[in-house]
Amino acid sequence: MTAPLSAPPDPAEQWKHWPHCWYVVARSDRIRCGGVISGYLGGRPWVLYRGEDGALRATDAFCPHMGAHLQHSRVAGNDLLCGLHACRITPEAEPTPANTSIQAGCRLAARSWPCREYCGLVWLHPPAEQPPPPPFAEAEAAHHWQTAGPERIAADWRAMICNGYDLGHMVAVHQREVVGEPVFDALPDRTLKMTYRTRVLPRGGLSSWLMQKLSGGCIDLVHTCAGTAIRVESRVGPFRTTGIFALYPQDLPDTPPEARQTLAFAAVGIPRGARFGRVQLWLARSLYLAFLKKDFVVVERMRLKLAGITDPGVCAISAYQATLAAMETETEPPLS
Ligand code: FES
Ligand SMILES: [Fe+2]
Repeated sequence: MTAPLSAPPDPAEQWKHWPHCWYVVARSDRIRCGGVISGYLGGRPWVLYRGEDGALRATDAFCPHMGAHLQHSRVAGNDLLCGLHACRITPEAEPTPANTSIQAGCRLAARSWPCREYCGLVWLHPPAEQPPPPPFAEAEAAHHWQTAGPERIAADWRAMICNGYDLGHMVAVHQREVVGEPVFDALPDRTLKMTYRTRVLPRGGLSSWLMQKLSGGCIDLVHTCAGTAIRVESRVGPFRTTGIFALYPQDLPDTPPEARQTLAFAAVGIPRGARFGRVQLWLARSLYLAFLKKDFVVVERMRLKLAGITDPGVCAISAYQATLAAMETETEPPLS
């Protein structure tokens, strides 16, 4: 007797729900000096604040003394002043051990989380001795940026990342057709690059009409994926723009895919020194957001299924995501 053949696992199941990577959790301009924000990554609670020196710092969310949530603390200098017993909390690699006796104003260390801000976005990494370099940071200095979001989308972040590489949806959703063969490069910094060209088709609405006029018909694109973020570099006629689209998953891994929620952030940049910079930046941002809006609608409530899919972009992004390590998660439900 032969054993019954079982279907091979769906490649979508190889994606880590929470890859061990940098996540965009806020826009820079939304955190003033003295501001404190909080959230969860993989069920792990964090707080992040801007000190008097203007720098961002992030830590575990609970005070090392008795566990007060530090979202109720206030910023004092470059530390947090815990709301419960007024200890000064500083983010450090090694937290103060439990059972340390305290008095008001004494200093305690809470475990720090790596955080950065660039391109107008705030990037957070789970605690790690040696976090990888934050992705796309080199784009900061060469561009003027405008940001957008967060927009809460009723979609699985995997479906949204997949969409960024899905060449097959270009005609139906964006009224563009892919010209020639896309080229894929798995880069040493653990990112995946896709280089391709599209032709703008008629009947795509105002934004497509405008793209047609600006580009003379063809658009050259490079997508680079780093975990849950994608950078899109585009050349439209003489205009070059860069967009960073970053996704912040909101659910635990066992949430059904069609019930998942994702916060989406965007930063759009044009090269410094570009002519009519303000107008170009406003136009680039409008066109990127109009493009993304079409995607956000079609991926809502999607139950991602990749078995048997042959689209080269989808296969490449799926294989790339399967190589990423998973972050350590906790099982507490995230705040909504
Ligand atoms: S709980 Fe924070 S100082 Fe006591
Ligand atoms: Fe799309």
